[in-house]
Amino acid sequence: MIQFECRLLRGLLGFICLLPMCTSAAPDICVPLKTVRDSLNSTLRRRYMKMNFPINYTIQVHYEEVFRLRNISRLNTSNEDEPVQRRDLQDLWLIVSQQGIKRVLRVLPERHPTRRKYLSNLENLFRDFEALFHQWNPIDPKRDRPESIQNIMDRLEDSYYQGWKSVKPKSILDNSYRTMLCLFKECFSKEDDNYDYCEVHNWRKDKKTT
Ligand SMILES: *[C@@H]1O[C@H](CO)[C@@H](O)[C@H](O)[C@H]1NC(C)=O
Ligand SMILES: *[C@@H]1O[C@H](CO)[C@@H](O)[C@H](O)[C@H]1NC(C)=O
Ligand SMILES: *[C@@H]1O[C@H](CO)[C@@H](O)[C@H](O)[C@H]1NC(C)=O
Ligand SMILES: *[C@@H]1O[C@H](CO)[C@@H](O)[C@H](O)[C@H]1NC(C)=O
Repeated sequence: MIQFECRLLRGLLGFICLLPMCTSAAPDICVPLKTVRDSLNSTLRRRYMKMNFPINYTIQVHYEEVFRLRNISRLNTSNEDEPVQRRDLQDLWLIVSQQGIKRVLRVLPERHPTRRKYLSNLENLFRDFEALFHQWNPIDPKRDRPESIQNIMDRLEDSYYQGWKSVKPKSILDNSYRTMLCLFKECFSKEDDNYDYCEVHNWRKDKKTT
């Protein structure tokens, strides 16, 4: 009898976990992502991306390498045959963040502390996360990306494209951090927390959390 009840219970638990609630929460992806988040915290961003550089130091990046909350809301509401999915924006976030890190690494001497103590490690964390993310959520080869997203990706890969903009190194990671919290809300929002990380105004008011 007890054995039967156990089996019933196990069957029931198995069934519950097939429900969308269990699968869409994707807790697995949150673990490596939280490691990335911890490395992007405000103390570390300020120390390694601001204090270690001359005042008002800027580097040159392509326009598309600036990916902010406003970009997300604009792309999310863009009106196309193929709607923009969260997944498209997450892929874009991964590419832009990693390209941004590479831009900063390119101007740093071999022995610079930001390289040795911070960015090399951060680059690896992003690479590890990307591998797991693609493994758990394979790209659907039958779906064409929306044109708006594809155009951005093409320009990101085009090494002849000339459209340069000066940005502070820290702003690259500030944007990466904010857009991460928006695009992977499930990993970061606490229960009974209605805080919307995608809302630009929330960040404005609340500068300390950056
Ligand atoms: C950021 O992480 C560092 C190293 O783990 C830690 O010392 C620091 O207190 C953290 N800062 C915040 C604001 O959480
Ligand atoms: C840095 O930039 C700010 C704002 O553009 C300016 O007010 C400040 O004087 C600059 N500081 C230096 C040292 O150039
Ligand atoms: C984000 O918006 C800025 C300003 O409108 C634009 O220059 C940039 O290319 C956009 N970035 C992406 C990744 O779409
Ligand atoms: C995109 O728009 C949809 C529908 O309006 C909304 O539910 C979703 O939260 C938005 N996603 C982002 C990342 O802003």
